[in-house]
Amino acid sequence: MVKVLFVCLGNICRSPMAEAIFKDMVQKKGLDGKISVDSAGTGNWHVGEPPHEGTRNLLTEKNISFEGLKARQVVAGDLTEYDYVIGMDAKNIGDLQRMAGNVPVNHVARLMDYVSDSKMQDVPDPYFTGNFDEVYDLVSEGCRKLLEDIEAREKL
Ligand code: 4NP
Repeated sequence: MVKVLFVCLGNICRSPMAEAIFKDMVQKKGLDGKISVDSAGTGNWHVGEPPHEGTRNLLTEKNISFEGLKARQVVAGDLTEYDYVIGMDAKNIGDLQRMAGNVPVNHVARLMDYVSDSKMQDVPDPYFTGNFDEVYDLVSEGCRKLLEDIEAREKL
């Protein structure tokens, strides 16, 4: 099983959206027995909460399930447990690298790094911008490219 973890700051806006979208793509490709998907936040403010209303509204509009999603905080063990740890912005990556310290970890990368011609390197935080549509567009494109990369790399 290839294990993918999406990470943002609060785990209520961007990374649960990525988790739901990526799970939907994985299912549609019939890869759900081969790829498992989760998300977590570097912060602990919203632990136990469902996704933010903006993320829920958008996923409902796109007919993508977010059933059972609940915020949790990243733990150091995630960095060795998950094969792909995918952050939404440069701060997430810095926080994950600090958490890893000198311990060798699995693949840590920023989602938009998978989109070679992307104008944006970070997925802007809609908790502050209010723009969930922008997040959906960026995250969908990033997830599409990430899945292609994993399928090729893991020979799925
Ligand atoms: P997210 O957005 O990282 O995309 O889930 C945030 C949610 C909550 C907070 C910050 C960002 N917060 O400061 O509580």
